[in-house]
Amino acid sequence: MILGVGPVEGLGANLSMHAARAGLHVFISGRTKSAIEKIASKIINEGGKATAFCADATDPEEVSSLVDRAEQAGPIDLAVYNAGNAFPGDFITMSPGYFEEAWKVCTFGGFLFSQNVVKKMLTRGSGTLLFTGASASVRGKPNFSAFTAAKAGLRALSQSLAREFQPKGIHVGHIIIDGGIMGEKITSNYPDYVASTGINGLIGLDGISETFMYLYSQPKNAWTHEIDIRTFKENF
Ligand SMILES: NC(=O)c1ccc[n+]([C@@H]2O[C@H](COP(=O)([O-])OP(=O)(O)OC[C@H]3O[C@@H](n4cnc5c(N)ncnc54)[C@H](OP(=O)(O)O)[C@@H]3O)[C@@H](O)[C@H]2O)c1
Repeated sequence: MILGVGPVEGLGANLSMHAARAGLHVFISGRTKSAIEKIASKIINEGGKATAFCADATDPEEVSSLVDRAEQAGPIDLAVYNAGNAFPGDFITMSPGYFEEAWKVCTFGGFLFSQNVVKKMLTRGSGTLLFTGASASVRGKPNFSAFTAAKAGLRALSQSLAREFQPKGIHVGHIIIDGGIMGEKITSNYPDYVASTGINGLIGLDGISETFMYLYSQPKNAWTHEIDIRTFKENF
């Protein structure tokens, strides 16, 4: 089950396709019905199993319905919280509502999702819960105060959950994507930036998804909690 799925050339969609190829029935969720249905159809046409389910990650009822519906189809074995588009903004003129919205999508939504998921996984004492992080999860930068505060909150949540629930059999992972992703969000909004980074200057979708699936495949006696991914060009 993946919450935070948008365009086909995006991380949520790419992850959904990788999970389906690994044999999972994937629940694909985001706010835009047409987008998630497109990915579900693509998976089904390739012979995989997928269900599109609309949910807003910041709405307690909708997140609860998504998790209940996915669990009805079978035990949730892998759950990924991927929602959290960047929230850049000038700090001095930023409205309280904007700062709150970043927190709601990146942090509060992660709380709603994981609380519902963990309740299900605890009944079996197994399952993998992964969170998508960003450079902002570990590093503040000018113009990214809202996003950094929110993503750092999600990372802190993931650490608490790992320490509380790993001893109960639930693998909790946080994946730091340190740099821009070669996907729809960046290529359509920042073409000059894409050109300036050159070949392999942005992080490839398949490489990221393979890392998520690697964490999912780890045996219980060798779990990774946090991992970071960047291109060879990234200064860090
Ligand atoms: N793009 C990058 O360069 C980059 C870099 C580092 C880290 N990341 C992280 O990677 C993740 C997303 O990757 P991506 O940029 O490739 O985007 P993506 O996975 O293609 O799309 C994520 C989708 O999440 C959905 N979403 C947003 N808010 C939501 C909400 N409240 N409830 C439900 N769904 C919601 C949006 O679709 P709808 O609007 O249709 O709901 C959005 O298209 C994020 O966690 C982001 O912080 C991205």
